[in-house]
Amino acid sequence: MELKQAIASRASVREFTGDEVPIEDLREMVRLAGRAPSVNNAQPWRFIVVQKRALKTAMADAVRLKLQELLPEPGCDEQEGRYKALCTYCTFFEHAPAVVAVGTRNYEAMLDKAVERAMHISSHELRGHPDEASLGASIQTLLLAATDMGYGACWMTGPLVARPELEALLGIEHPWRLGALVSIGRPAAQVQPTDKLPVEQIFELRA
Ligand SMILES: Cc1cc2nc3c(=O)[nH]c(=O)nc-3n(C[C@H](O)[C@H](O)[C@H](O)COP(=O)(O)O)c2cc1C
Repeated sequence: MELKQAIASRASVREFTGDEVPIEDLREMVRLAGRAPSVNNAQPWRFIVVQKRALKTAMADAVRLKLQELLPEPGCDEQEGRYKALCTYCTFFEHAPAVVAVGTRNYEAMLDKAVERAMHISSHELRGHPDEASLGASIQTLLLAATDMGYGACWMTGPLVARPELEALLGIEHPWRLGALVSIGRPAAQVQPTDKLPVEQIFELRA
């Protein structure tokens, strides 16, 4: 597949066939994700592949429990519907053949310490959170690799409402933390790219 075609046809996929994702395919996606740019080439990422049903269920249960704690009991049908949609948004990874838990760690450069000493502001904020941005670059590369290989995927941070619980289940320890989950599998239906703003609305020229 051409890169442009992979970029244009990628869309978040949340329903999958039951087909397993071979470990070699997941390793290849991760190899490509590891090619992404990162601040000072820090590569602040680790990709933990979860395929066991019991672990996926335990993770989804932890997220459901957290949502119950955070949100009041739905009082009417409309709220009930929205609650269910939110719950699905945060837990559908349970039904994905493969889940990639992406671990990340903070990056601190000499420059950051100097900025904070001299300017008394968060260097990370000033620099646009370069470690988070690096993680994003690798996840987008993972999504494109999955698309290129005929898989569907979805980047997920909703489940991170239960981040400590998920980290405990996944054995992620300081200085690492969970940055996102990516659900991967063969799409259950044909993938329809999501509408985006036309280029005229997002392209500006200062000539
Ligand atoms: C940082 C980030 C977090 C996201 N978290 C979730 C999530 O928790 N659950 C979910 O279903 N989709 C999640 N998404 C997918 C977005 O909903 C999706 O990218 C957006 O609706 C645009 O659709 P597209 O990916 O098909 O272009 C996330 C996307 C990003 C970039």
